[in-house]
Amino acid sequence: MKAWGGRFTANTAAIMEAFNNSISFDWELYAQDIQGSKVHATMLGKIGVLTEVEVDQLHQALDDLLVSFQEGNLHLTQDHEDIHMNIEALLVQKLGPLGKKLHTARSRNDQVAYDFKSYVKNQVEGHLNQLEGFLKVIIRVSEVHMDYILPGVTHLQPAQPVRLSFHLMAYGQMVKRDMERMADLLKRMDECPLGAGALAGTSYPTDRWYTAQALGYAQPTANAMDSVSDRDFAIEYLSVASMIFMHLSRLAEEVILWSSGPYGFMELDDRYATGSSIMPQKKNPDAAELIRGKTGTVYGRLMGFLSMMKALPMAYNKDMQEDKVPVFQTAKDLTLSIKIFSAMLETATFNKENMARAAIYGYINATDAADYLVEKGLPFRDAHKVVGQLVQLAIQTRRGLTDLTLEEYQLHCMLFQADVFQRLDLETCIEAKQSYGSTARKQVTHSITIMKEWLKSRRKE
Ligand code: ARG
Repeated sequence: MKAWGGRFTANTAAIMEAFNNSISFDWELYAQDIQGSKVHATMLGKIGVLTEVEVDQLHQALDDLLVSFQEGNLHLTQDHEDIHMNIEALLVQKLGPLGKKLHTARSRNDQVAYDFKSYVKNQVEGHLNQLEGFLKVIIRVSEVHMDYILPGVTHLQPAQPVRLSFHLMAYGQMVKRDMERMADLLKRMDECPLGAGALAGTSYPTDRWYTAQALGYAQPTANAMDSVSDRDFAIEYLSVASMIFMHLSRLAEEVILWSSGPYGFMELDDRYATGSSIMPQKKNPDAAELIRGKTGTVYGRLMGFLSMMKALPMAYNKDMQEDKVPVFQTAKDLTLSIKIFSAMLETATFNKENMARAAIYGYINATDAADYLVEKGLPFRDAHKVVGQLVQLAIQTRRGLTDLTLEEYQLHCMLFQADVFQRLDLETCIEAKQSYGSTARKQVTHSITIMKEWLKSRRKE
């Protein structure tokens, strides 16, 4: 008979059981469920609902169950619908009537809210570490490639020369914000729903503060109805995950472009690339493409979750059972994606010559040529026009701007002197940019120092 079978006369139809159960996926919450049950039992002991001996027996049985779960030798069944009722049934099997006492002063509604929230909390903590690792890789690769120059682009058209370190540290800033968002989410979800009951609270003299703190939360949730129907934390989680994936997908796109033949800016390590079954020469950036693809899937999960929660009246509704799978899958996707991106970036090699060549033939020092004329007194608009004509000449004769002769320069404008070649050197162009946050060595180095200090200060908190 079902745990709730008292008021029923007929058995549940098999198809109803198959449709209704969540054990096929919420078994993943076993550790949280057991931990919550242990603390709940202790709390029931403290308020005199259970004896000390009973609490010990429950703890022992729950610890044993945890081990069996970890070893994978437990029989879970959809007869018991979900992880909460499966664990209860296993406890009753082990302890008889005592197993039935554990559900005093709680409901599956606050149980699932607690289990799910704690699952998300664990994932967020994990992601913070993974993101930190990723950020450190970005910093390391940036430091090593300070002298690598590539064309900075807008509209995918070569625009101005930048340091590879500068380009990568742009992603470093994104990762830092992502970490801040995760940490912020952690603060907001620091309230424990366990002990809220079905929706209205409980008539037992429970100590929800004890439960909350023993489970690592700052305090209990403030409103029992909200406790069992709130899934904001999961939506925020999916939203932060979507943002992270958006960032990863942008860098993934660059990796795909940069490692493609025409670019040749980087080569992925063999360990993080794949080949083709027909074309022997191929080396494909599958990991980067998968991350780009998964980004769309993750956005879809966020929209699906928001739509699932739309207009749900208070309090718990079975619709909410749909909350788990998208979050479980996203957690796995995100964990793997950050880890693989870190490894892929750390082991990649960058091609300085190809980057420099692209930089030279992209005429990305044209703005600097105009600035040179402005420094000599020509209004910027006129300088822009002169340099435009020089670029046209260089393109027609398949040369870089620094390959033109001084005579050719002076034919277009007499203000050009021999020092123009030095001024148009890509390194000079980059070092001329001294504004805070620029691509000049000093500024990039400064931004790396600040980032390292930020990482250190986080650790101390
Ligand atoms: N299996 C349910 C879920 O995943 C647990 C809560 C069920 N509560 C209820 N009143 N049916 O959401």
